[in-house]
Parts: sequence; C-alpha cells; structure tokens
Amino acid sequence: MLAEAMARTGQMLLRGIPPNGNAYWANRFWDRDAAERHPDLNAEFEHQKSTISEYFKKYAQDAETAVEFACGTGEFTRLTAELTKVSSITALDISEQGLERTRQKVRHDDLTLIKGDFWADHGLARSDLVVCVDAIHHLGDVKDVLKRLRSFVKPGGVFIGNALILDRFHEFERCRYGTVGHFNRTAQFLATAVMVRASGGRLNTGAYRTQLRTSKDIRGLLDDIFPEVLDVSVDPYFMAFACRV
Ligand SMILES: C[S@@+](CC[C@H](N)C(=O)[O-])C[C@H]1O[C@@H](n2cnc3c(N)ncnc32)[C@H](O)[C@@H]1O
Repeated sequence: MLAEAMARTGQMLLRGIPPNGNAYWANRFWDRDAAERHPDLNAEFEHQKSTISEYFKKYAQDAETAVEFACGTGEFTRLTAELTKVSSITALDISEQGLERTRQKVRHDDLTLIKGDFWADHGLARSDLVVCVDAIHHLGDVKDVLKRLRSFVKPGGVFIGNALILDRFHEFERCRYGTVGHFNRTAQFLATAVMVRASGGRLNTGAYRTQLRTSKDIRGLLDDIFPEVLDVSVDPYFMAFACRV
C-alpha cells in the first residue's frame, strides 16, 4: 500500500528526531468528545476510558496527590477527581483552550492548572499518582517521555496512562479519516519528514507530531523504565498501562 510505504519512508527520515507539535497543540484544543462520537471508533475510545478508570480504582486508591500531563479538556482529570481520593490535583497542558474546558469540567477542592510545555521546569513535586492519556506519543521520543513521567512518581506511587500504537495504525486512520483522507495526511507527513530532515529538525509543519511504536516495543520500554508493571491492556489501536515506582 502506498500510504504504508510513505509512512515508513517518513519514519526512516525522522529517525533520531523526536516529534515537536508544540505550535500545533498550543493553538487548539483536542476535542475528545468529538473523537468519542466517531461512529466506528467510539467503542475504542470508550474502552480506553473504562480500562483507565479501572486502573484508577484498582491502583490509585491510596494516592494523596496527583499530577496529570497533557490533560487536554480534562476528561481524565475529572475521572481522577471522581474515582480516587486525592486531596490535590495538578493538571498541565500546552493548550489554554484545553485548560479552560478542564476548569469548567472538573470539580475538586484543590485543582491547579498549569499552562506549559511538558519538558519545561514547573517546579512540580513528585506525586503519588501520575497520569498521561493519549499524549505520550505526542510529547516527544516515547522512551524519553516515559522516563520523564517516571521521574514525577513518588516512590511507591503509580503511573497510569496509555499510548496509540503502530500495530494497526493505518487501519485506525483509514477508519477515522477515510482512505483518501488518510492518504493525504500521510503525504503531508512524508513532505514534512523531508523538510524536518533537510533542516536538521529546525522546520516542522505540525504534521510530525506523533511518534508511533509497536505495543511490543512499548511493553519493553515499560519493563526497562518502571520497577513494576502492574497491568497492561493491548487493544487494537491503543495500549493502556499502570506501573509502580
Ligand atoms: C490527543 S490530546 C489528549 C488530551 C487528553 N489527555 C485526553 O485524553 O483527552 C494530546 C494533548 O497533549 C497536549 N500536548 C501536546 N504537546 C504538549 C506539550 N509539549 N506539553 C504539554 N501538553 C502537550 C495537547 O495540547 C493535547 O491536549
């Protein structure tokens, strides 16, 4: 298939250069509600939500503090508030529009919202619960992102998150955007990959904002980075996980 070949070529060109979608993400919010209404993919998004909700109930009941990275419009911030007993929640995102929706959605006595880059120093203390959903693949090199997430977990605390996986990515995208839409997006990705490589990473269009790894690779990274992998659920398009530090 041509789209698969273009994507592979783009990924080869981008080897060693992590995605940087900061300008793209800062100017919009990611509409989870719309994603959850997709006629063919809604069950997948709902399944991720219910798996992560179960992880909150199973592994985060002793947590007193929580931090969420890339909270978007706050759906998992809301679930953290409702399904755990944490006394404080800090949620960070680069999108002001996303944070505004989080502010309106989440009811909690001690909620701090931070607008900023995942990689910047915000003086955050380690937390009992660290959350990052549907974003690890957007924040940079997946291995480095997982290492940084781990650094925010208190000893004995848990990290709960998920990632989009490469395993059946093209099927997912065709379902989401249609065959022509997926082809066009992949062509833009390849053109961007050429530009990023030629400029040594200085130029980007926002079409390179995702790093995809297989579920097998990500499982290996979790095993390497976290002392204990408590749970993993590999689904057709995403994998969810809970890890203890
Ligand atoms: C696909 S959305 C997921 C949002 C939310 N976690 C959810 O599941 O509904 C990815 C999120 O990552 C955020 N993001 C991307 N790059 C970021 C960065 N460098 N620092 C902070 N947030 C970032 C985006 O603004 C966006 O809200």
